[in-house]
Amino acid sequence: MMVTHIPVLKEEILQFIRDHATIKSFCDCTLGEGGHTRFLKDELEGWTFSGFDRDSLIIESALKRIGDDVDVINDSYENVDKYPASDSGVFLLDLGISMFHYKDSKRGFTFTRPEEPLDMRYSHISGPTAADILNEYTPIQLETMLMDNADIYRPGYFIEKIMKTRKETPFSTVSDLLSLFPSHGKVRGNHPLTLFFQALRIEVNQEFNHLETFLSKMNVFPRSDALFIFISYHSGEDRRIKQSFREMRDANRLKIINKRVVKPAWEEVQKNRASRSAKLRAGIII
Ligand SMILES: C[S@@+](CC[C@H](N)C(=O)[O-])C[C@H]1O[C@@H](n2cnc3c(N)ncnc32)[C@H](O)[C@@H]1O
Repeated sequence: MMVTHIPVLKEEILQFIRDHATIKSFCDCTLGEGGHTRFLKDELEGWTFSGFDRDSLIIESALKRIGDDVDVINDSYENVDKYPASDSGVFLLDLGISMFHYKDSKRGFTFTRPEEPLDMRYSHISGPTAADILNEYTPIQLETMLMDNADIYRPGYFIEKIMKTRKETPFSTVSDLLSLFPSHGKVRGNHPLTLFFQALRIEVNQEFNHLETFLSKMNVFPRSDALFIFISYHSGEDRRIKQSFREMRDANRLKIINKRVVKPAWEEVQKNRASRSAKLRAGIII
C-alpha cells in the first residue's frame, strides 16, 4: 500500500501546540496514514502519542510510518472516552477522507473508478454500504441525505432516477451510479457528482453523528487545559464545530483560540490541492 496522503496545515498545528499545549500527550483522533502523527513525533520531544481510526487497513499502513510506540485504537473517535487516550493533552480531528481511500481502498469513493463496488465504508466490514443505501432508502430518506450532507437543494431529479434505475437493476458498482449523470466524464469541482459522492460517503459512515457525539462529549471527558484542533473540509462539518465551540465558550467550558478559521496558505494549496477547502478551529478546555 502506498502512502499518498499529505498532512494538511501541519506547521500551523505545530505552532498551536507550541503556543498553547501544557500536557505532553497527543491523540490523533483521525490517524489515517499517520501523516500528522509522524510529523509531530519528529518535532515534539518527550511526548506520548495515541491514535484512532475506524479503518483497520489504513492503520496497518500508518503503523509502518509512525512506529510501534504509538497507542493505536481501531475504533471511532466518538468512543474516545472509553480509552486512556481520553486523558491526552492535545486532540486533533482531521475530518473526512484520506488519499488512501480514493486511490487504494477499492471501495468506490470516487467517480473516477467506475469498476469499483459502491461500498464507501471506512470500517469496510460492518454496516450498510453505499449500494445498500441507494437500493433501500425511501425517497424521503434520499432527499434528507442529499440536502443535509451536500446541500443539494433540488434533489427530486436524482431521486426519481434512483427509484427507476433500482427497479430494473439494483445498484452495485460505481458505474451504475454514473449512469444517472450523463456528462460525468468531463467535470470536476462542485459538479452534482462530486456532491452526490460526498453525500453518500457522509451517510454511509454517519460522519455528522460521530462528530456531534464527540463534540458533546467534550463537555465531559477532557482534562482542564486540553487543546482541541479540528480541521474540516465542508460547511456541514464546520457549522457543527463552530456552533459547539460557541456553546462551550458561553458555558465557560472552552476558550476559543482563533476567532477566524485558519486556512492553508497559497503555497500549501499549490503543493496539495486537497488542502484547499480546509478550515482549522482550535480551543482549550477551561
Ligand atoms: C483526512 S484523513 C486523516 C489523515 C491524517 N491526518 C494524515 O495526515 O495522514 C481522515 C481519517 O479519519 C478516519 N475516520 C473517519 N471517521 C472517523 C471516526 N469517526 N473515527 C476515527 N477515524 C475516522 C478515516 O478513516 C481517515 O483515515
